[in-house]
Parts: sequence; C-alpha cells; structure tokens
Amino acid sequence: MKIALLGHGTVGRGVVDIIDSGTGALEVSRILELPQFCNEARMTSNFDDIVEDDEIDAVVEAMGGLEPAHGYIVRALEAGKSVVTSNKAVVAEFFEEFVDAARANGASLFIEATTGGGIPWIAGLMKVRRVDEVSSFSGIMNGTTNYIVDQMSRSGAEFGAVLERAQGLGYAERDPSADIDGIDVKNKTIISASVAFDVACTHDLPVSGIRNLTKADLEFFASRGQSVRLLGKGVQELGSYAVAVEPTAVDARSMEAAVPDNFNLLSCEGATIGPLKFYGQGAGSLPTGNAMVQDLLDLAAGVRPIYDFSRGLAYDPTLLSGDYLIRAAGFEPSGAEPAGAGYHRVPDITAEQARSLLDEALSVDPTAFMAAIG
Ligand SMILES: NC(=O)c1ccc[n+]([C@@H]2O[C@H](COP(=O)([O-])OP(=O)(O)OC[C@H]3O[C@@H](n4cnc5c(N)ncnc54)[C@H](OP(=O)(O)O)[C@@H]3O)[C@@H](O)[C@H]2O)c1
Repeated sequence: MKIALLGHGTVGRGVVDIIDSGTGALEVSRILELPQFCNEARMTSNFDDIVEDDEIDAVVEAMGGLEPAHGYIVRALEAGKSVVTSNKAVVAEFFEEFVDAARANGASLFIEATTGGGIPWIAGLMKVRRVDEVSSFSGIMNGTTNYIVDQMSRSGAEFGAVLERAQGLGYAERDPSADIDGIDVKNKTIISASVAFDVACTHDLPVSGIRNLTKADLEFFASRGQSVRLLGKGVQELGSYAVAVEPTAVDARSMEAAVPDNFNLLSCEGATIGPLKFYGQGAGSLPTGNAMVQDLLDLAAGVRPIYDFSRGLAYDPTLLSGDYLIRAAGFEPSGAEPAGAGYHRVPDITAEQARSLLDEALSVDPTAFMAAIG
C-alpha cells in the first residue's frame, strides 16, 4: 500500500523508520517537505502531487497545527484517500467534518496516535463500546505534566526547576503553556469523549492546569495521603455526558499516583468489562509512529474505525461534580471550610463551577491553585 507523509519531524520520522525497518505491505512513496529540505526523489513541496496521485491510498498527517493540516486532510478524504493523523489539535477542532468527509467519499479516518501516543487507547475505547456503553474515562494524558509532578514529588524540587529539566530533556516545549495549562489534555479529552460516547464533543469544557502547583502544595496533599495528577475525564449517564480537565488529588496508593516520568495511564469503565487501564509511552517518535503504522496496517487489512456522532447526547455539567480543595490568599469561597495549609475545602460543586471559582480566586491571588478530590 502506497502512502504519503505530511510532516517529516519527530513523529513523521518515526513512521518512516518503522516502515523502513520492515512492515511488509507499506511503502512511503511521497513525503511533503518544505522546498529547501526536498533532497530525495519522493519528496515534494506541492500537496497537489500527493492528492492527485491515484497510486497513493493513504495520507499520514504529522505536521501539527490547524492549517494547512485541516485543508490537506479534507482534500485527501475528498479524493478518496484515507487519512492517518497524530494531530490532536486538528482532530479536536474538526472531528465531525473529517468523519463526514470520509463517509461521503468512501475513505477512513484513523486517529490512534492523537491520544496516548503508542498506547492503543482509541482502539481500546472502540472495542469496549462494541459491547458496553463507556460509562466513564479518565487519564493521565500528558507526559510533560506527569514528569513535572512526579519529579517534584520525588525530589522536592520546585515547579520552575523541574520544568527547566523537562525542557532540557526535550519533554517540554520552550513555550510549555499547551502542556501546563491543560490545552493538550483538553484536545485529547475531546477526542476520547467523542470516541467513547459517540458524540461530537463540545469544545466548551472546564480546563485548568498545573502552572501554579508548588512543592508546598504537594506536601499538603501528601499529608492527606494523596498525590496530584492532571486528569482529562468524562462521564456518560442516562443520555447525557460531561467532560473536564483538572488537577485531581488521587490516593497516594493508586496506580495514577505511581505513574513515573513522562508515562501515561488511561482508564475507562463499562458495565460488563468493569474498569480497564492502559499504560505506556504517551509520546515520542517511535511509540507515536508505532500507533500510526498500526492504523496503516488496519487500513491495509480492511479494518476501518466507525465513528457515529448521531446519538445527540446532551451535555450535563452536573454529571461531573464533587469536592474541591482551593488555595488562594485573601479569598474565602462561600460555603467552604478551612482545610489547613492555606487551603479551603469547597463541597459538592460541578467542574464548571469549580473553574469559575478558580477564575475568581486567580483575580485575587494569581498564584491560586485548585484540585478536585478524586
Ligand atoms: N512528538 C510527539 O511525541 C507527539 C505525540 C503524539 C502526537 N503528536 C502530534 O503529532 C504532530 C507532529 O508532531 P511532531 O512532534 O512530529 O512535530 P515536529 O517535530 O515539529 O514535526 C512537524 C513537521 O511538519 C513539518 N511541517 C509543518 N508544516 C508544514 C508544511 N506546511 N509543509 C511541509 N511540512 C510542514 C515541520 O517542518 P518545519 O520544522 O520545517 O516547520 C516538521 O518537520 C503534532 O500534531 C503533535 O501534536 C506528537
């Protein structure tokens, strides 16, 4: 099967390396490159050379960003070529449009690499929902923030020092906002919910990150027998669903609290399968390339993912609610009780209300931090 690669960076090179090391039926016949880097016969800087080539069955998109990735994916699908992408930002934004374009043109869309890197999470969710409704999912979906929390907990170092170390190791971008403010997890949560619940998931979900997490915060949670992890989560119940991204205080003896370095741990639950957990490398050239090659092998074998967003699930924020712990100097939320170390415990609010409360707190104390009690 001939494929074209868009984006010859970390993930794209992983795909080429795995295919070149021998996966049988796959051949990278075209690579889209910027003109100054076109140094092989199969490289082109003109997407028309790819989309108009009838011999190419599949386009692998690993460029990142919204445009031109979005336009290229739509054009490839409209030309009847299946698309395999690792680009969570573009899928979170245009999932339904891509699914419609694939269906209308007899092509398929594969997205395993968008969420959980090399972990077969999307395939796992699809398999669960063949028998069960996925009643809930949650996960450590971002390796950079897990590395930061894990290193802070182990070494007692402050956030900034560990972030610098993560940047030195290539785990964190020079601008780490997408990771530490929860945007990356937001995209993965939207994709996970869409697949798990068969719904074109809303973008308007409560999102908070770990930018303000301190060593003293982790010591406070440790004194309560807890650790903090940044989780993407979703719940489905009685024809409704809710999703959120938020730091969560998890039991120090839980599997989540034990996830080391930049690893990911994704969990879901169904009525007959019970709780399931998927653990592994959530990013990196070869693990993510592996997920894309798995998608290509499925395509070659005629195995096509089916997404169906026609159920019309309602969004009900009350499905995700609980108690929260908030630290903000000079800010006392109404109905909250002091919990020690400058923290207040706020009982029984939704994730949406919690995010609004955090906004209020941040306007008083820009260093405020809040975690859901898991
Ligand atoms: N890195 C990971 O571990 C990982 C894991 C899961 C998912 N992803 C996702 O996979 C995608 C790619 O990530 P990455 O880490 O591989 O990024 P990357 O290393 O920056 O690679 C992207 C490549 O695409 C090229 N590119 C961008 N726009 C292009 C255009 N218009 N024409 C031709 N080439 C173009 C870039 O070239 P220039 O550098 O010259 O601009 C670069 O070589 C992103 O959506 C990311 O979120 C990454």
